[in-house]
Amino acid sequence: MTAFTPHETGRGLPRREALLKVTGRAPYSAEVGPAQGVHDAWHAALVLSSIASGRVTAVDAAQALAQPGIVAVLDHTNAPRLAGDDDEHLVLQSERIEFRGQIVAIVIAESSEAAREGARLVRVAQEATAARTRFDLDAEFEAEREPHGDDAARTLASLSGAAHVVDATYSTPPEHNNPMEPHAIVARWNDSPGGGPQLEAWLSTQGATGAAKTLATTFGIDADQVRVRGEYVGGGFGSKGVVHAPDVAGALAARAHPGRWVRLTVTRQQMFVLTGYRAPTIERIRLGADADGRLLALDMTAYTQVSTVKQFIEGATGVPAMMYGGERRTLRQKVATLNVPVTSWMRAPGEMPGAHALECAMDELARACDLDPVELRIRNDVATDPATGKPFNGRRLVDCLRLGAMRFGWSERQAEPGTTRDGEWLVGLGVASATYPALMQRGSETSIEALGSGRYRVRMGSADIGQGAWTVLGQIAADALGVGIDDIDLQIGDSAGPPATVAGGSSGTASWGASIIGAAQAFREKFGDDPGQGDELRAGGTRPEEYKKHAMHSFGAHFVQARVHAVTGEVRVARMLGVFSVGRVLNPMLVRSQFIGGMVMGIGAALHEAGVRDELGHVATGDLASYHVPTHADIADIDAIWLDEVDPLMGPLGARGVGEIGIVGASAAVANAVFDATGIRVRDLPITPATLV
Ligand code: MOS
Repeated sequence: MTAFTPHETGRGLPRREALLKVTGRAPYSAEVGPAQGVHDAWHAALVLSSIASGRVTAVDAAQALAQPGIVAVLDHTNAPRLAGDDDEHLVLQSERIEFRGQIVAIVIAESSEAAREGARLVRVAQEATAARTRFDLDAEFEAEREPHGDDAARTLASLSGAAHVVDATYSTPPEHNNPMEPHAIVARWNDSPGGGPQLEAWLSTQGATGAAKTLATTFGIDADQVRVRGEYVGGGFGSKGVVHAPDVAGALAARAHPGRWVRLTVTRQQMFVLTGYRAPTIERIRLGADADGRLLALDMTAYTQVSTVKQFIEGATGVPAMMYGGERRTLRQKVATLNVPVTSWMRAPGEMPGAHALECAMDELARACDLDPVELRIRNDVATDPATGKPFNGRRLVDCLRLGAMRFGWSERQAEPGTTRDGEWLVGLGVASATYPALMQRGSETSIEALGSGRYRVRMGSADIGQGAWTVLGQIAADALGVGIDDIDLQIGDSAGPPATVAGGSSGTASWGASIIGAAQAFREKFGDDPGQGDELRAGGTRPEEYKKHAMHSFGAHFVQARVHAVTGEVRVARMLGVFSVGRVLNPMLVRSQFIGGMVMGIGAALHEAGVRDELGHVATGDLASYHVPTHADIADIDAIWLDEVDPLMGPLGARGVGEIGIVGASAAVANAVFDATGIRVRDLPITPATLV
């Protein structure tokens, strides 16, 4: 009996929960009620600091408490004490203010309206100290962090001997992930010891298992004393990958009132300061190539910022370190620690800005060498990872570039930028490479129970944030157990189930899938193909030995046709094609959707998205009216295709992740197409009309 034969897997099944979601019947965490055992919930609302550094000197809650329906106001003087050592999670544990928008009080009320009105009426006296909020090259940077590659002097010597040199500096602004469903928690502490877990929470999360562990650490209790559920999640993009302060705030508000459910929903405005975002970056890249365009040297300095509260570094050197060759390479990161909201995961953290800078620099190098930018990339392909020296797991970047060039009509490209016109529109083509690590995390387990009549219940703690886990895990389980998808009763999104790793790092499906296959194999070995009703087994999967011996990556290529209005500078992405090499495609409909979602986010990064922080540390673009994202009207002819392949180094499933690679390099392809159309190189994102006319 083979471990895994794809029948259901590979079919383009629509999402099984799609109808529930689009008709509003899939309960998101904020919406749970009596059907989920949540009765008479109170509501919590947050009061945020209005200074970027200093301390709270007094919280006057009298006016708020005088309002009908207000139950309590928590601040740092009366909030329950927390354990743990992650400052982001230590909500209301001290009077210190580290950034503008930090939680300084929580109002608990009988209705959400009363809670929000109460939050407006709480008076917080604050004493400001000098704050550092500005991020640019004049910020105070720590010494180089983790410099890797060759000695810098040797790289610079190699650069100075190169026939062609590009020396350019790029930047990306703060970018804010805004899933349609803002973060929310509905929590209750047990008031009858011995009766179930101490803390129960419905949480909008990318990983119930991890969130339960973090909440346990934060509250100083055992992990098995916390149950986190989040069965339906309306997007995450990384913002729900780790526990953020509002999640703790909700549990903290409930802690103060054992036995009572307390609901905390994060407002859209609060999403911009309390749930993580992509830090701004600046990349100086120097590339040196020989007369034929072969890379000799790469020198890169990536600047970024972290919050004083927590170190999360947007690691932009990762992609440039592994993408192409060159005999001398030096990469370094410089970090400024500022009084700003906590940075965190946003789709392809590090890879996105790093690939943007590198792929724009490669375009500039192609111009300098008078080479086709597709050809330049093909010439600089490598078989082993320059960063680790390990062989790649079958790197097919060149196949992606060649297939994409053919499908896209790349041969129509004119060599001279700014020379193709269609009436008032300038037209240009751009290309960029994409890559993302192929991660397979260990630690997931799956429980399988025979329900009789060839049906099985399959349980694990995985999250479906919209990527399609409800569907594709059902497909995988069906094939692993040799039945149809309708014979699988899947239960996910609950930390009470077997543990699952996070829906992050594009690692979810491959990691969870391996555990389903491992558990199914163990189940069939123990109980055979005709198990008795109630037979149950819980097990995990394995990762192939060869996995660790290889540099595990996916690859891809983006092609863009941009149209730029010669008078207004308006940019339209008229056509976009992504070609990807990701191993086996488990569900073409969902995978294509993931790729296109990433590419659309790349268009957003290229043309629309820009978080603006003013001199006071205030995020001035704290809503979707001022923080622009692409809408349907911004997206025209867009498509994603892939190579037909299976990656044996990813185990029986043969699939690598698809969630993040779509954004990597996508913004560079747009920027390169805009250059091709106009002859104008905009190195600071986003490319707005004002930068072009
Ligand atoms: Mo993704 S940013 O790893 O959730």
